[in-house]
Amino acid sequence: MSTSLVMEELDLIKIRKDFPILSTTVNGKPLVYLDNAATSQKPWPVIRAIESYYTSLNSNVHRGVHYLSQKATDAYEQSRRKLATYINAAFEHEVIFTKGTTDGINLVASCFGKQFIGKGDEVIISYLEHHSNIVPWQMICEEKGASLKVIPINEKGELIMSAFDKLLNSRVKIIACSYVSNSLGTINPVREIIGKAHALGIPVLLDAAQAVQHLELDVQELDVDFLAFSGHKMYGPTGIGILYGKESWLNKLQPYQGGGDMIKTVTFEKTTYNELPFKFEAGTPNIEAAICLGNAVDYINSIGLDKIARQEEELVEYATAQLSLITGLRFIGTAENKASVVSFVIEGQHPYDVGFILDKMGIAVRTGHHCTEPLMNFFGIPGTIRASFAFYNTKAEVDILVEGVKKAITMLA
Ligand code: ALA
Repeated sequence: MSTSLVMEELDLIKIRKDFPILSTTVNGKPLVYLDNAATSQKPWPVIRAIESYYTSLNSNVHRGVHYLSQKATDAYEQSRRKLATYINAAFEHEVIFTKGTTDGINLVASCFGKQFIGKGDEVIISYLEHHSNIVPWQMICEEKGASLKVIPINEKGELIMSAFDKLLNSRVKIIACSYVSNSLGTINPVREIIGKAHALGIPVLLDAAQAVQHLELDVQELDVDFLAFSGHKMYGPTGIGILYGKESWLNKLQPYQGGGDMIKTVTFEKTTYNELPFKFEAGTPNIEAAICLGNAVDYINSIGLDKIARQEEELVEYATAQLSLITGLRFIGTAENKASVVSFVIEGQHPYDVGFILDKMGIAVRTGHHCTEPLMNFFGIPGTIRASFAFYNTKAEVDILVEGVKKAITMLA
């Protein structure tokens, strides 16, 4: 196995033992899990926390005076504090628990759109967006008679910023952009986007689903207005995510859903709404997942996001170098700034067929359009083969992928 300073620094053998699934087999072969952009694996501290929640804490939050309800509420709010610290939010009530990134974006598109988008207005997104940062905006634009404008990209899969400048005008009401592309790994120039948008008084939402587990996020330094991400891509449970919103914006927005916990008073004539963050958390939340996402944050902090990022950078560099030696392999997405993703096609082969053969070798990659159909149309392809890395992956696993791709090419020829 090739080694490196970061890999030695991280003690990969020990780290991989934290993730029990990594020592399982698939199709009789040791699992090589390279589908971390779809979902990450979970470490023991998170798995054990889930069990511990149901064996010692299970109760509803914000509702009971009894012991368990108070303990669960404390744990739930403690997790919110951990997440607020993780993204350096100014106030913990700026952190809303959601079902995930999609839910957070839909919340903003719906609430912001209802109040602040009108006929003839414009919403800017980018060519790199996941469907979850396209469709909610399309829906609200359609409802309001507004138009969706798209920042174009170049052949490397980078945003063309001179074209972005031309899209800016007084009709633009909000910009919604990914921080990191899920399909290509491109890291977008979000500071420039936010700076230019704010110069015109336009708020910005960042889809940080593929950023939060790789890059340090400081919402105050970014000065971003809204930011959404999912727990399951950052070693936490599924069905939980965070919407960060600046207090000033969240106070202006009307609630997304009505129900328990989001109210202050209810009569049949009128309801008054609860304060932040509860105004946006109607109904019993995913308590276990919210609490255990806090354990995932603890786990990331115990490793160090800087070390995580450096190791993933090394893996991307190594995988790019090794895969580039394969005849007939073409990379899709060659941006200067990339995080954790290597996407490629094999000339003359459908990505699905390659993915199917890799699976027989125990190698998990994602194939297809990755919920970015417009982006695939730009490149004139049905999809890519995407290897996406986490810090627990090794160069030896990259070697297995490279050999697997070579074998798949031979078998399909
Ligand atoms: N959005 C996730 C991915 O890119 C599911 O794979």
